[in-house]
Amino acid sequence: MQKILIWDWPVRIGHWLMVGGFVTAWLTSESENFRLVHAWAGGIVLAVAAFRLLWGIVGSRHARFASFVRGPQAVLAYLSSLLRLQPAHHTGHNPAGGWAIVALLGLGILTGISGWANYNELGGHWLEELHEGLAAGMLTVVIVHLAGVLSGSLMHGENLVQAMLTGRKAGSPEEAIPSARPMAAASLLAWVIVAGWWLAS
Ligand code: HEM
Repeated sequence: MQKILIWDWPVRIGHWLMVGGFVTAWLTSESENFRLVHAWAGGIVLAVAAFRLLWGIVGSRHARFASFVRGPQAVLAYLSSLLRLQPAHHTGHNPAGGWAIVALLGLGILTGISGWANYNELGGHWLEELHEGLAAGMLTVVIVHLAGVLSGSLMHGENLVQAMLTGRKAGSPEEAIPSARPMAAASLLAWVIVAGWWLAS
């Protein structure tokens, strides 16, 4: 095992944009003065999550859903290895974390769409309630996600947050991705600027 490149630029930049967007949207959710900032931040989460769905199909090896979305047996096997304090090592996302990611992306899209509809006054009070409920559900999954990242980092003795910054994690050389895909990351940034601006206008 050695340090190899597994997270490409779109995965890493998309991740930290989602973190910034989610935290900003949460902090500005109750304020009338920051309504535009809130819409912009929510637009970023929605735009990144939509891009990530596409990248999960056409992206590099460890970014693809097919590489980390696993059935219930694999999830249970991973969770029981966690309980035995001997978690199985996965070079990409582990099977339990994979489902948290699917939930975060799904909730990011649903929360973003319901927020956009609210912002444009397309629904009544029920839509506001739905948007708030989805955002609260997302916060719950974020907390579970953070607990998973922390426990995974501690049990594997591997700093997963640093890996999401550098793209490098322990693995065998044949599992490394050949390119960090900088041009796709530039497309992601352009898309986020255009879609985020449009959604908040
Ligand atoms: C400061 C807070 C956060 C930290 C430190 C953090 C850290 C991480 C780490 C280390 C991973 C990789 C896990 C692995 O190795 O399998 C990851 C993945 C992920 N996180 Fe977070 N996370 C944070 C907040 C969030 C938030 C707020 C969201 C969503 C709104 C989010 C969404 C995701 C997604 C979608 C992935 C999968 C990345 C991909 O494959 O594209 N995270 N996070």
